[in-house]
Amino acid sequence: MGIRHAGQEELARLECKTLDARFLTEIQEGLDIAPFAAKSVLGVVKDVYFPFLETEATRPIPGKVTLVAVAAVRGEREDDRQRLLLSPWPEDRGVQAHPIPQRDLHPPVEVDRGGRLVGTGGERRRDQHQGEEREGGHRTAEPLGHGHLQIKAGRILWEGNWFDKVTEEEPPLTREQILERYRATRALSFELCRPLRPEDYRVQSMPDVSPPWWNLGHTTWFFAKNILEPFGRYHAEDARLEFVLNSYYETLGPRIRRDHRGLVTRPTNDEVVEFRASVDARMEELIRTVPNEDLERLGFLVVTGIHHEQQHQELLVTEVKHILGSNVPDLREPYRPDAPNGHRSAPELSWVPFAGGLSEVGNVEGGWCWDNEVPVHKTYLEDFALASRLVTVGEYLEFIQDGGYRNPLLWLSNGWAKVRDEGWTAPLYWEERDGAWRLWTLGGERDLDPNEPVSHVSFYEAEAYARWKEARLPTEREWEHAARASGFPGDKANFLDSGAFHPRAANGAAGPLLQMAGDLWEWTTSHYEPYPGYKPFEGPLMEYNGKFMDNVRVLRGGSCATPANHIRPSYRNFWAPETRFQFTGIRLAR
Ligand SMILES: [Fe+2]
Repeated sequence: MGIRHAGQEELARLECKTLDARFLTEIQEGLDIAPFAAKSVLGVVKDVYFPFLETEATRPIPGKVTLVAVAAVRGEREDDRQRLLLSPWPEDRGVQAHPIPQRDLHPPVEVDRGGRLVGTGGERRRDQHQGEEREGGHRTAEPLGHGHLQIKAGRILWEGNWFDKVTEEEPPLTREQILERYRATRALSFELCRPLRPEDYRVQSMPDVSPPWWNLGHTTWFFAKNILEPFGRYHAEDARLEFVLNSYYETLGPRIRRDHRGLVTRPTNDEVVEFRASVDARMEELIRTVPNEDLERLGFLVVTGIHHEQQHQELLVTEVKHILGSNVPDLREPYRPDAPNGHRSAPELSWVPFAGGLSEVGNVEGGWCWDNEVPVHKTYLEDFALASRLVTVGEYLEFIQDGGYRNPLLWLSNGWAKVRDEGWTAPLYWEERDGAWRLWTLGGERDLDPNEPVSHVSFYEAEAYARWKEARLPTEREWEHAARASGFPGDKANFLDSGAFHPRAANGAAGPLLQMAGDLWEWTTSHYEPYPGYKPFEGPLMEYNGKFMDNVRVLRGGSCATPANHIRPSYRNFWAPETRFQFTGIRLAR
């Protein structure tokens, strides 16, 4: 085995699937070579490895370390395997690479036919790994050591005794960028309302569902109250609407009861539209004219308001589904009859293994995030595996047909109480007619598609299904680790932007771990709790997240109703465990 430099062109020619990589840090100044494992076997191959090479990486502290990646190229014979020096920094190209002692390397690594890293025939895991034997007696390989290294889209983040943490600061947004993002977000809210009729704007089909007029007004009030007021541009007309448009901010005064939003007829729809136009004009003027020294603060607040409005865009879509679905069946009209309804068959479910170890949780990537995504902190994960895709309608039907909704032993006590009290026999929007299940979607009513993911299930249903399958739901930290390692969001994610307004069957070509982003929010078994050292936002926004960390479960990954630029691997959604009207689905873990 020789070590040689690999040129960028040469690397580009290598097919992803034939490569896996082990990353090693070579410590200069007389220290031993310290092996690091890539965080996961997966992700290195496809989603992490190439971005890493093709973009400008952040240089580590000069003179201290050199990062070396060693890749094993699959060959028919052992002699065909090579190790390549993959240092991303051009000035390292001329550096003589030291041979890496065999003792610090895993036995020569190979990838199996599925592109996964496996050990050689003689290798066995030293822990009590539960993974199944692979072809040729191979098992999944284990980490090389206890480093902590993350590689993500051209950015290298690491922590350890020998490194200073290297992060990439996002430059502050320019006025033009703030303005552009503000306008695009505000326009999308109107666009999402375009298919509605005037009557649809006023209905609150259940207490959790806000009428569309309220979403349009409330998001506007959020900008007025949190930005225009502190910048001295709040008007008397804004104050008049405070009582009806404040959602839950105790510090911002009294408000209409949440379940009364559908009981009022003022402001009218037209008045809400006028209110939006008035606030937009003042916001745009403020963004254009605010003194330079205030621009960064304003940018943060506007981006926060944008993310808030994006959350309400998602709510609006899910609420419209409920509102329109609440009409009597013969009179129901779809929201978007033109939404594509792509049928395809889902690939077989497989288990994607992840090696345990220390993992970093939270907004590792940097940039704007909610206060509940920080501080970034470490967590220890045991080995785990995630299902390669979401549970399908066909699979969930088997649970129903096996008496899943009639067997109390499958359910948490509160879940079983819901089954009995609410009469649950299937997910929300499943309707039995003439002995067959029909499904209400934003594209209209239709037959079940066994290949698409089962949606609109509560945490309790997800949990009961997992128990029935002798599996479990992932923890939010496992989920985040897997999402990051597998290259979230991936290029095939089905977000709001796709215009499908419905989850799609998994696309087997998109990678070993499918549907982590988009399609459906995935219930985790984790209770929504503050991260260690949690500090809420300052001012009125301190009420945004922290006070809801009670009796709710965390969901991850976004859905077909989530705007694509709203979400991150660290993003934490949360709902009460009985919630079914959101686009929620099931990913199994074990
Ligand atoms: Fe809100």
